Amino acid sequence: METPLTLTDVEALAVARMDPDWSEYLAGGAGSERTLGENIAAFASWRLRQRILCGIDTVSTATTVLGQRVESPIVVAPVAYQGMAHADGEEGMARAAAAVGSAICLSTFSNASTAQVAEAAPAAVRFLQVYVFRDHAVTDELIAEALAAGFSAIFLTVDLPVVGSRDRERRIHWAFSDGSLPAVRYAIERGVTGASLGMLDPALDWAYLERLVSSVPVPVVVKGILDPEDAVLAAEHGAAGIVVSNHGGRQLDGAMPSLEALPAIIDAVGDRLEVHFDGGIRRGTDVATALALGAQAVLAGRMPLWGLGARGEAGAREVLELLREELAVALHLTGCRSIAELGPDRVRRRTSQRPEANPHIRYSPRG
Ligand code: FNR
Repeated sequence: METPLTLTDVEALAVARMDPDWSEYLAGGAGSERTLGENIAAFASWRLRQRILCGIDTVSTATTVLGQRVESPIVVAPVAYQGMAHADGEEGMARAAAAVGSAICLSTFSNASTAQVAEAAPAAVRFLQVYVFRDHAVTDELIAEALAAGFSAIFLTVDLPVVGSRDRERRIHWAFSDGSLPAVRYAIERGVTGASLGMLDPALDWAYLERLVSSVPVPVVVKGILDPEDAVLAAEHGAAGIVVSNHGGRQLDGAMPSLEALPAIIDAVGDRLEVHFDGGIRRGTDVATALALGAQAVLAGRMPLWGLGARGEAGAREVLELLREELAVALHLTGCRSIAELGPDRVRRRTSQRPEANPHIRYSPRG
């Protein structure tokens, strides 16, 4: 089987192999996909500073995420329905994350249960992403199962009180095959009605976050913050961390690209909680830029999923490893021995006009 040698080859290979509807679901964003495209384009607004003769022999990409040691700061983002990308599904993805010493954040809408993922990859650092069902007891039970299976943090996704307007999903008549998801099956048993995302509580508030924080013995991270005022509120209501994120451009089209939102949020709360970042990570240099601007870790959504779609667990591992390797090269060339040394002094905001796009590289929003 053909092995993609570069990150830019992976998507094309995955598209050729995957169910076309699923690759549209994975690639797509909301509305005109402006925010999706700008998530990627925003990285061009920053320059990494090349430093020389630094006397560095080897570099380390190790760090900690929510108190867990990881060899790579690139966490697998929660992405629903991974079993539809490839039969290896979330179990294969978790093994891939473990193989590169990274962490996985499992979606509520996963094909595999938390217990199955724990059994498949006991060495992986595992977090659970939580959507809150209208019957909160369903969510409480899912969290309890995850904690029993050794998941060490809860990521509460807050940017989906309603589902964004997603044209690609409409065109392919995307219908969630609810019955295949353990969480949805459980919700149906408990009498919750509606199609999967329609089963969720649209009216969550800060009081819910406070209750969640006080009811679990692990850190709670709020995923989906773009505004510094919301970041401050998250800190005040007990979050241990936040993810600066616009859900990969799938929710509010026209919202700010995540990278543009990051510096002001770091200024507002960087010393109060752990700030994670996602949206538009396509290369290791993107990871380096987000970390230099103050993120503790990044979540990668579509990239590892393209890897899974292309070659299953092996493909996901290759993508996570390529991203980590590129990050290591960027550390070396910016004169950093470790992530701790990769601070805001290693980047500069771009001042010159953007040059013509390189015709040899695809800049499509799908990439
Ligand atoms: C997502 N994302 C997501 N987030 C979440 O909290 N729960 C979920 O179930 C999903 N599902 C999901 C499905 C698909 C197909 C995509 C592409 C994304 C959002 C995800 O966690 C992350 O925020 C973005 O994917 C990050 O952007 P990039 O890395 O894809 O550019």
